[in-house]
Amino acid sequence: MAAEGSGDRMGRRIPFTVPLILAAALVGFVSRCEGGVTSSFVRKTEKTIDMPIDSDVFRVPPGYNAPQQVHITQGNHDGSAMIISWVTMDEPGSSKVLYGTEKHKLDSSAEGRYTRYKFYNYTSGYIHHCNIRKLKHDTTYYYAIGIGHTVRMFWFTTPPRVGPDVPYTFGLIGDLGQSFDSNVTLTHYESNPKAQAVLFVGDLSYADNYPNHDNVRWDTWGRFVERSTAYQPWIWTTGNHELDFAPEIGETEPFKPFRHRYHVPYKASGSTSPFWYSIKRGPAYIIVLASYQAYGKYTPQYKWLEEELPKVNRSETPWLIVLVHSPWYNSYNYHYMEGETMRVMFESWLVKNKVDVVFAGHVHAYERSHRISNIAYNIVNGECQPVPDESAPVYITIGDGGNLEGLATNMTEPQPSYSAFREASFGHAIFDIKNRTHAYYEWHRNQDGNAVAADSMWFQNRCWKSADKNECSV
Ligand SMILES: *[C@@H]1O[C@H](CO)[C@@H](O)[C@H](O)[C@H]1NC(C)=O
Ligand SMILES: *[C@@H]1O[C@H](CO)[C@@H](O)[C@H](O)[C@H]1NC(C)=O
Ligand SMILES: *[C@@H]1O[C@H](CO)[C@@H](O)[C@H](O)[C@H]1NC(C)=O
Ligand SMILES: *[C@@H]1O[C@H](CO)[C@@H](O)[C@H](O)[C@H]1NC(C)=O
Ligand SMILES: *[C@@H]1O[C@H](CO)[C@@H](O)[C@H](O)[C@H]1NC(C)=O
Ligand SMILES: [Fe+2]
Repeated sequence: MAAEGSGDRMGRRIPFTVPLILAAALVGFVSRCEGGVTSSFVRKTEKTIDMPIDSDVFRVPPGYNAPQQVHITQGNHDGSAMIISWVTMDEPGSSKVLYGTEKHKLDSSAEGRYTRYKFYNYTSGYIHHCNIRKLKHDTTYYYAIGIGHTVRMFWFTTPPRVGPDVPYTFGLIGDLGQSFDSNVTLTHYESNPKAQAVLFVGDLSYADNYPNHDNVRWDTWGRFVERSTAYQPWIWTTGNHELDFAPEIGETEPFKPFRHRYHVPYKASGSTSPFWYSIKRGPAYIIVLASYQAYGKYTPQYKWLEEELPKVNRSETPWLIVLVHSPWYNSYNYHYMEGETMRVMFESWLVKNKVDVVFAGHVHAYERSHRISNIAYNIVNGECQPVPDESAPVYITIGDGGNLEGLATNMTEPQPSYSAFREASFGHAIFDIKNRTHAYYEWHRNQDGNAVAADSMWFQNRCWKSADKNECSV
């Protein structure tokens, strides 16, 4: 376990020593190299393979035109709306959602819309999206869809009203795919009773690994994850596997399947594109960035983020979390430095605005950094090393959901000093916000029970180092 205190308590000059000793003492089988810890945990060595198409998790729900692939995500900026999405296969059917706070009295209704798309020789089902609004906070709602044909009912709980001291627990999953290991990751996540919403860091179905990007694998993925996504909002980040750019078969519109299937509330945060946006949820302000959209100076994403960061009021939402697919700090020999250009564009803004944590995926393994920044370089001064920085976020790579591409096991050696902990195992994480000053973070590898954390850390808020002063407010 690592702990962080305010700069003076921990001693600015030796910021890496305390967590290292604690972690090494608790985890017996780690080896020390440079500043960080590389876990040599021996994981399963079998190949990671996709679940066959006739697997139980891909079963089509019974009944004529039954809604399938049900998923929900936050529908506005403050969490009082929810986007309900599902697919019908036989005919369009109804896009209506009936909902209410009592199971047997769904006294509200909202009308959605459906869309479809073609991809090479695949034609999608009818993809429905309905945003239900003006929901009460901290309330369980039941909802029914498939009205007129086969009705299915689900439920979810809305987040508490946005505010600094409402506890809230997020799950973190990335690069999930639909292998047997993906199923273990999801099951492991579900066995944790605490997490209330998933921050998903990109790469959903991996359908693009199939011939002609077989979009049937988008449908199977939707059915596989429904057991969680129908009940908890998953906050979507796009990864490279959502691009589905395949000019060789005439598919030249990037993100076509993703855009039709997964809606996000981007307009509510003044974004002009579904690939970057923000939401507030309880005590957290979550900014989603797009590794595979332009982010150079003057681009829409650049301008949006530049205007967005100063809007975050840390007295209202103390916890500032950034999600992005391609990591900016990654010491594995996979996708090495792919996130570098975006880091160069945006890292100084994140430090200036004291972002608490950045979660990324893409690399199919786990890694956590110390608080470091690398923003001093100006071409001629030679200052291009990461240095300890109390204003910098912790960078966590959690692309270890378990997809068919398998684990990233080859690491750069020696472990760079900015890297606090790394391990090539599948798993998920939990970010448990307690109050404005503290959050407890745990990474769970799939081979362990949920009581075991393979890596953990107490986060101390970057603005609220004590409960009575917001150091970020001017
Ligand atoms: C699409 O084309 C591939 C190969 O060209 C074929 O195997 C597959 O059955 C076709 N799918 C449909 C829905 O026609
Ligand atoms: C997936 O996991 C669930 C829950 O543990 C289990 O019931 C199901 O049989 C698994 N399916 C496959 C194909 O592994
Ligand atoms: C920030 O949020 C706090 C708490 O909700 C509020 O009192 C304050 O007015 C807000 N500040 C600004 C600049 O909006
Ligand atoms: C690990 O990656 C490095 C750099 O790409 C490569 O030179 C080396 O051969 C790889 N090692 C293994 C065991 O694949
Ligand atoms: C915030 O949570 C931490 C960890 O649970 C606890 O030690 C601390 O006392 C809490 N602060 C307040 C003001 O309740
Ligand atoms: Fe990726």
